[in-house]
Amino acid sequence: MNTTRMNTRIVLTTAALLLLVGCRGMTSEDPPIHPNPNMDTQEKYTAQRSSAFFADGKAMRTPPEGTVGRGRLREDRAYFTGRNVDSSFVSTLPFAVNDAVLTRGAERFAIFCSPCHGISGDGQGNIMKYKYPIPPTSLYEQKVYDMADGNIFEVISNGIRNMPSYRQQIPPEDRWNIVAHIRALQSKGTPVAVTPMPGAAPATTSGGIDTVTNRTETAQ
Ligand code: HEC
Repeated sequence: MNTTRMNTRIVLTTAALLLLVGCRGMTSEDPPIHPNPNMDTQEKYTAQRSSAFFADGKAMRTPPEGTVGRGRLREDRAYFTGRNVDSSFVSTLPFAVNDAVLTRGAERFAIFCSPCHGISGDGQGNIMKYKYPIPPTSLYEQKVYDMADGNIFEVISNGIRNMPSYRQQIPPEDRWNIVAHIRALQSKGTPVAVTPMPGAAPATTSGGIDTVTNRTETAQ
């Protein structure tokens, strides 16, 4: 092999290598080469994009006034808020209580309420084992017996003081099912004046949350 051909080969190989790696790290205004388009890029509007078609230049359209999403018409105020038109609480469940309602209510209560209020509703849920500083109200407190059904529905929907809202987790029908279950629990229990602190000492005389360590497991 003569030197000229040898040199030519070296030059060609170097040029080819440079071609392969030379573009790396360079910026370009052009779109990247996309050998197989595969419908990756489509003519469509995505959120927050502009539009040359609409006069206001926005691709996202505002729904006409009064538009209601399918299944989102919440005309039944009592059912969706627990309150009557005059803002007073609905006194009883807006539908008849049957076995299916109670079964579902018990199940949802066990999932969403029992960690704090206890499976029996006495306010001694699992969180009390971990010295939760604010005892969840016992659902056997006289004041909960006295609450209208709509009021309990509202507490579940919006939360109250130290209790979080369960609006996002529990759909309205299940909130009512839970109310029915609470009434069923209460009908078997005896009203108490205040929520007892764990360990039996009444809340007013117990020295604070330390009594948690003495709690008995019976209620679980
Ligand atoms: C994260 C713990 C927690 C969960 C879960 C929880 N609660 Fe509560 N709940 C509390 C606490 C704490 C209070 C006492 C709030 C206060 O007085 O500051 C309370 C208070 C209440 C009251 C009394 C409200 C009042 O007017 O005094 C009711 C009724 C009640 N909860 C029902 C429920 C129901 C039904 C569920 C399930 C959907 C539930 N709670 C889930 C912690 C919880």
